[in-house]
Amino acid sequence: MQGQSVTRIRVPFLDLRVSSKERLALLSAVDLVFQHGRFILGPEVQQLEESVAKYCGRQFAIGTGSGTDALFLALKALDIGSGDEVITTALSWIATTNAIAMTGAKVVFADIGEDLNIDPESVKELITEKTKAIVPVHYTGKICKMDALTALAQRYNIKLVEDAAQAFGSTLAGKRAGSFGDVACFSMNPMKVFAACGEAGIIVMDDPLIYEKLMALRYNGTVNKEKCIATSLNCRLDTIQAAMLLHRLQGVDLLIEKRRAIANRYGQGITSFVRIPVEAEAEKGVYYTYQIQTPTRDALKQFLEERGIETKIQHPFLMCQQPIYQHLLQRSVPCAERLVREILCLPIHEKMSLEEQDWVIDSIASFYA
Ligand SMILES: Cc1ncc(COP(=O)(O)O)c(C=O)c1O
Repeated sequence: MQGQSVTRIRVPFLDLRVSSKERLALLSAVDLVFQHGRFILGPEVQQLEESVAKYCGRQFAIGTGSGTDALFLALKALDIGSGDEVITTALSWIATTNAIAMTGAKVVFADIGEDLNIDPESVKELITEKTKAIVPVHYTGKICKMDALTALAQRYNIKLVEDAAQAFGSTLAGKRAGSFGDVACFSMNPMKVFAACGEAGIIVMDDPLIYEKLMALRYNGTVNKEKCIATSLNCRLDTIQAAMLLHRLQGVDLLIEKRRAIANRYGQGITSFVRIPVEAEAEKGVYYTYQIQTPTRDALKQFLEERGIETKIQHPFLMCQQPIYQHLLQRSVPCAERLVREILCLPIHEKMSLEEQDWVIDSIASFYA
């Protein structure tokens, strides 16, 4: 192709702009909040909590200011703190580790499998008498091997806290993400599939005692804003975000179908060139990100960039490679260390045209040709 100009279609990694049709609906939801004036814990927060609990097949949900808040509060509600150990994956956004470390517990990093999710075998090897919880992350929106993790949690009497930040709407054997652990946490920041127009998170659970504890923990550890029964912070969800999320919840399944269609198209087009995400028969992921694996990742990224295709190395470092946490690594995580050098996120969002999708596929094919 040297000397020839290549057609160039700009493909942004994400497009968070709100369509004019949706803008009207969101504005009218916000307008209702302006009218009643209950900007904090207004009726929309409770409506959202009830709707999300139902969507996830849970008894209770509690809105929080972010997914990070959700994780921190969930761990606190399970009485996790200093002297405890919590096992989590090596590969996630750093919020997972920060939330554990903020409780005072020691973070223990497990290796991942080829599916990029925590490897239950690695978890098993790391369990000690101090292990109080496992925090599996449904990375990219793919649900972890929950049967194996639940069996370990039951056998060793350990709590299971799903970090489902990336997985709202994913299902495994008909069960939704968030319905497996003692407690599960979601992020609804604007990049997520189920997204607010700002920061937002939510915790789901079945146990009424944990729910009660969380109600206090969410607002400075107080009951009725009077009595303080636990050390905590202000982690409430804004009513305005809840109002917009309530509207968006109605359309979330359609968004997921659109993303799955793009993932399917990518899969068919590029499977002979790179390792693509694969699903078991009983599995339906939301493809929060579409991560391919290839040893020639950096050259491919550069090539796609030259063709106007924006890709991302979303987490270029493992959590256990971060300067602040590297001293915590007890056992090496060889699979994670290899895969973090090979993964690349392709653009995937519901606004992508077929032309854009084909441009990505054709460009990857051209690179390997
Ligand atoms: C796996 C994971 N956990 C936790 C979080 C934290 O969520 P938030 O950004 O809403 O605090 C994120 C956010 O991207 C995430 O991807």
